[in-house]
Amino acid sequence: MKPARRPSNPLFSSGPCAKRPGWSLDALDGALLGRSHRSKPGKAKLKEVIDLTRAVLAIPGDYRIGIVPASDTGAVEMALWNLLGERGVDMMAWESFGKEWVTDVTKQLRLSDVRTIQAPYGELPDLSQADFSRDVVFTWNGTTSGVRVPDGDWIPADREGLSICDATSAAFAMDIPWSKIDVATWSWQKVLGGEAAHGMLVLSPRAVARLESFRPDRPLPKIFRLTSGGKLIEGIFVGDTINTPSMLCVEDAIDGLRWSLSVGGLTQLIRRSEQNLRIVSEWVAASTWAGFLGDDPATRSCTSICLRFTDPEVTALTPEAQADFAKKLAALLEKEEAAFDAGSYRDAPPGLRLWGGATVENEDMEAVLPWLDWAFATVKAETFGR
Ligand SMILES: Cc1ncc(COP(=O)(O)O)c(C=O)c1O
Repeated sequence: MKPARRPSNPLFSSGPCAKRPGWSLDALDGALLGRSHRSKPGKAKLKEVIDLTRAVLAIPGDYRIGIVPASDTGAVEMALWNLLGERGVDMMAWESFGKEWVTDVTKQLRLSDVRTIQAPYGELPDLSQADFSRDVVFTWNGTTSGVRVPDGDWIPADREGLSICDATSAAFAMDIPWSKIDVATWSWQKVLGGEAAHGMLVLSPRAVARLESFRPDRPLPKIFRLTSGGKLIEGIFVGDTINTPSMLCVEDAIDGLRWSLSVGGLTQLIRRSEQNLRIVSEWVAASTWAGFLGDDPATRSCTSICLRFTDPEVTALTPEAQADFAKKLAALLEKEEAAFDAGSYRDAPPGLRLWGGATVENEDMEAVLPWLDWAFATVKAETFGR
């Protein structure tokens, strides 16, 4: 039977993610449009993003927070291009984004001393393999596999190398221990449901010391440059962006941050997201056809919740036929306006992916699950001619 109730907000995309509850275009009324981002009020808006970010995430006062070009990718590339090469680097990867950073470091930067520590979809590599006398690059939450690091305990406080973390689908939904992180990056369009535009780059004092003491032997385009004359360009970290940001997107980022504070700050953002995972976990425990892509509950993501098929008839299909099945499932959910963008990532094993970040209401997560059951039964009946 088709479920009677749809989620009030059926948006489950893993990026851009659902806007915060109650959002409308009115939230952007205060945007500084048609004005220079370098004007006094323009800079004040950019600084507000930085200050609110520090407040919500409790980022230490001696860490720099910058707004940088090209979303999360821009922020990660900036870190890799500026910082790596001073010593060997360990690249940890367990899904497609982490693998992209491996490609960057091995094929583009072509660093000579790189160790790649990888795991297949659904698993986490052995974190104890990371050697922190070297630099270590990792993704806090693998958006395409739904597997996250459990905590920062595997990162020593007295490390010699830098810990460089792509935290784009973790920031604002997971606890990030800043003392263990030298570089963190994320974009606006994930957990707070902002608009995709500039990215965020957080640097520890040790990362700044590296920038000021190490000059990489490679050209750096202007869009990547964080230092001038061997000194950090401090302006970038108070709102003097390298190039022009969208002030509409900046306003939206401010709106998301203010909303965070209004619901009770980081603790409540994490609670909302963890509750979404709990709701799906209870459903999976009773499901006869779906399981988590990640087997270990300790490393299962509360934001990008990735599901695979466990139904014996479906798993007996060829990988291509399973992918086709998954596509039909996602298309049916979309047609019914029960869930949009719930298909798994193109490179990931076939299945479904539901975003459970802080902007997704727990009731909507509850409401979508009966639709998954109905859609699965419908597509299965069609596939097997019953
Ligand atoms: C872990 C991770 N890294 C990087 C990216 C790329 O981010 P952007 O499109 O903001 O550059 C994504 C996007 O989903 C991601 O999930």
